[in-house]
Amino acid sequence: MLNRRKFLQLSSLSAPLLSIKNIATNGDAYTKPIVISTWETYKGGNTEAWKVLAANGRSLDAVEAGARYVESTIDCCVGLGGNPDRDGIVTLDACIMDEHANCGAVGAIQQILHPVSVARKIMETTPHIMLVGDGAQQFALENGFKKESKNLSPSAEAAYKEWLKKSEYKPEINIENKKSHDTVGLIALDAFGNMSGAVTTSGMAFKIHGRVGDSAIIGAGLFVDNEVGAATSTGVGEENMRICGTHLVVEFMRQGDSPEMACRKAVNRVVKRDMAKAKTFQLAFLALNKKGEYGAYALQKGFVYCVKSNGEEKTIASKYVFEI
Ligand code: GLY
Repeated sequence: MLNRRKFLQLSSLSAPLLSIKNIATNGDAYTKPIVISTWETYKGGNTEAWKVLAANGRSLDAVEAGARYVESTIDCCVGLGGNPDRDGIVTLDACIMDEHANCGAVGAIQQILHPVSVARKIMETTPHIMLVGDGAQQFALENGFKKESKNLSPSAEAAYKEWLKKSEYKPEINIENKKSHDTVGLIALDAFGNMSGAVTTSGMAFKIHGRVGDSAIIGAGLFVDNEVGAATSTGVGEENMRICGTHLVVEFMRQGDSPEMACRKAVNRVVKRDMAKAKTFQLAFLALNKKGEYGAYALQKGFVYCVKSNGEEKTIASKYVFEI
């Protein structure tokens, strides 16, 4: 039961009335905020997201804050410090989704520091879901985002020069971008029982110019259903897009599977289609359900994810299918 003081505290926050009702009627089931995210390298994103959740903020604000942190601090695989495409140009993909199934995405955007915030702007101010390339950049500039330099980060420049020696693109397990991580995906449950997610990446290193990966695709890189749960993904985007992986994970959870089992079934879908090929790339799913339970599953050994809630902060090695 909500006492009057608690009710007034909740009322003063800008949450939808439905969510307040959820807390009142479901008690503890919805009151444990939590954020989970892909790869240990991006753990700082969880820390930023947690600041929002711990202050009874909205899960949408939390995941955006986490993604923005990673976009502006990590080289290699996320943000403008990431590795370029085969023409030496950094292009970024991102998407975001909230508890009302509102969503926004950008594909192959250039010279914008925070693609996740452009995705949110598209979601909140346009009738569209995704903008790509020059149009996405134009929209960002019209909406107050600043055009950043085209220069590569020192590590990206070094990696690109090395790649140019052979100019051969071939995804490698867990080192698609020459480091043991790639995309950051964050999913969160807030104190109001509402779930959101965000994904951001520079995508496959040395990809064909114009390539958009799963991180910009709602249902592949990210899916949120506030009745059930949320899922995100990392790894070779094309293989995820073939199965709309995160939508599949959420649907498995709807049918009663735990987050880990739901991720495992999505990974198995990929294995079943082509086992020989599945041994050659990494793809992992990470999921959180409405009760705050979480789990992951990967094709290959090596995927880790981070969890932050009140009293819990850990990095967990995902279970996997192949140990190569
Ligand atoms: N999962 C990131 C990408 O394929 O671009």
